[in-house]
Amino acid sequence: MPVQSICCIGAGYVGGPTCAVIAAKCPHITVTVTDSNAARIEQWNSDILPIYEPGLEELVKRCRGVNLFFSTDVKGAVKKADLIFISVNTPTKVKGAAGEVGLAPDLQYVELAARTIAREAKEGLTLVVEKSTVPVRAAATISEMLASANRPGVSFQVLSNPEFLSEGTAIKNLLHPDRVLIGGENQQAISDLADIYAAWVPRERILETSTWSSELSKLVANALLAQRISSINAASELCEMTGANVSEVAKAVGMDSRIGPKFLNPSIGFGGSCFHKDIMSLVYLCKHYHLPENAEYWQDIINMNTHQRVRFCRKIVSSLFNTVSHKKIAVFGFAFKKDTGDTRESSSIVVADYLIGEGAEVFIYDPKVPDRQILTDLKLPQITKEISPGVITPEGIVDKSVHICRDPYDAARGAHAVVVCTEWDEFTTLDYQVIYDSMQKPAFLFDGRMILNHDTLMKIGFRVHCIGKSLNHPNKTNGASATNGYH
Ligand code: NAD
Ligand code: UDX
Repeated sequence: MPVQSICCIGAGYVGGPTCAVIAAKCPHITVTVTDSNAARIEQWNSDILPIYEPGLEELVKRCRGVNLFFSTDVKGAVKKADLIFISVNTPTKVKGAAGEVGLAPDLQYVELAARTIAREAKEGLTLVVEKSTVPVRAAATISEMLASANRPGVSFQVLSNPEFLSEGTAIKNLLHPDRVLIGGENQQAISDLADIYAAWVPRERILETSTWSSELSKLVANALLAQRISSINAASELCEMTGANVSEVAKAVGMDSRIGPKFLNPSIGFGGSCFHKDIMSLVYLCKHYHLPENAEYWQDIINMNTHQRVRFCRKIVSSLFNTVSHKKIAVFGFAFKKDTGDTRESSSIVVADYLIGEGAEVFIYDPKVPDRQILTDLKLPQITKEISPGVITPEGIVDKSVHICRDPYDAARGAHAVVVCTEWDEFTTLDYQVIYDSMQKPAFLFDGRMILNHDTLMKIGFRVHCIGKSLNHPNKTNGASATNGYH
């Protein structure tokens, strides 16, 4: 039966943009995005949306109040829905049994959502779609919870439909997905969900698999993407030692069609809400099935990421004559990547945390991250901070040592060093002569994203350090611009 009414539980980075695109492409379907967080729903219904995502605002403003609604009434929306997306957060466990903390995903929000659906769903068949990233066989647990309500005349089909969008390009990814993956056991249910996507996605891009393959594919996809970054970051350290240039290496290896050019940007390490958590989930799964070598293999992707972050921090301190105590350091960018205000697992948190721990005064500028978010991130202990060998920020130091700036020039004025942590486009067009003139000398610049023209900066007078290219190596043959253009 064609779906006419959709409810999405979870109005976050996935639920909001996904439903906005479905509403825009399927005007005959009523889409209600629900969340237990009233402040978030209020923002979705206001002029300033809770998340920044290019193209999102235009879509929401076009569909909101027509066939797209945002509400805190989860039960009410569930009662009316033919299809329900579970799009709640599945963070890594921070409490619980040893062996689970820091590894296994916390499924309490998925369970709560499933229990609400079990109690409130309308009579007849409801499709329940796992959009959240979950461990393999989570669909079986959800099915069990739905069945346990034991309501006569009420039935469910559970499908897995993981989301592959990246933040910053979510709308583009949703409009033109590489593939839509639907895992399930019931062909009619799979077809009903596929028909929704077929309104704008070519049929050959809608892939049907078993539920378990679908769930596992999401974790493996994220692990393989993160593995490319850890691999190029591992190569970057070797480049710095040998006089090779990682941008040239990335270009040379990426031109091999078997390897491909994307996702070979060296960086201060990957961040974001997904990679760390999903790889830990994979590690947990391997441990659960007593596959220690397998667990160690995936764990090494994370270990390399931590190493890359920490060695970048150490390089800052050692370059600044082995101390940053009472020195002013400008941090450009706090989001985990450009074109998003999201800071979850951002490498900037690790860098700022490390510098504060070493006694620096840190002046942070980011075009989209709210001030309070920066302070919250630096004050709250996080899993990453705990596992990182970086210095843990002592209580109270953040208020004293962290300053949030309105623009990058402000942040850099009087600073000993500028550290580029996020690859925001606007950082490539700043007037670095003006910045240099306003800084302490010698003025250091650390390009953690390889987005700047290092030759130009050095001509201005900066002492430049970057990733994967030693600008002062005795074997250096080519100091050409480092920007590699690989995204
Ligand atoms: P998010 O934290 O931005 O949003 C989740 C929302 O769910 C929150 O607003 C929360 O209040 C709400 N929620 C939790 N439990 C609820 C309940 N019982 N009833 C109503 N609302 C509830 O998370 P996100 O980034 O959108 O991620 C959601 C899922 O999608 C996660 O499993 C994540 O791994 C996966 N995912 C995320 C991305 C991404 O780029 N962020 C990409 C692909 C997949
Ligand atoms: C990721 C996956 O790409 C997406 O498919 C999944 O659905 C959710 O997780 P996201 O975390 O939003 O998406 O962003 P992504 O573009 O993957 O970047 C993750 C991190 O890796 C960022 O910190 C980014 O700066 C970094 N990165 C990415 C690199 O350091 N180098 C690269 O070449 C690419």
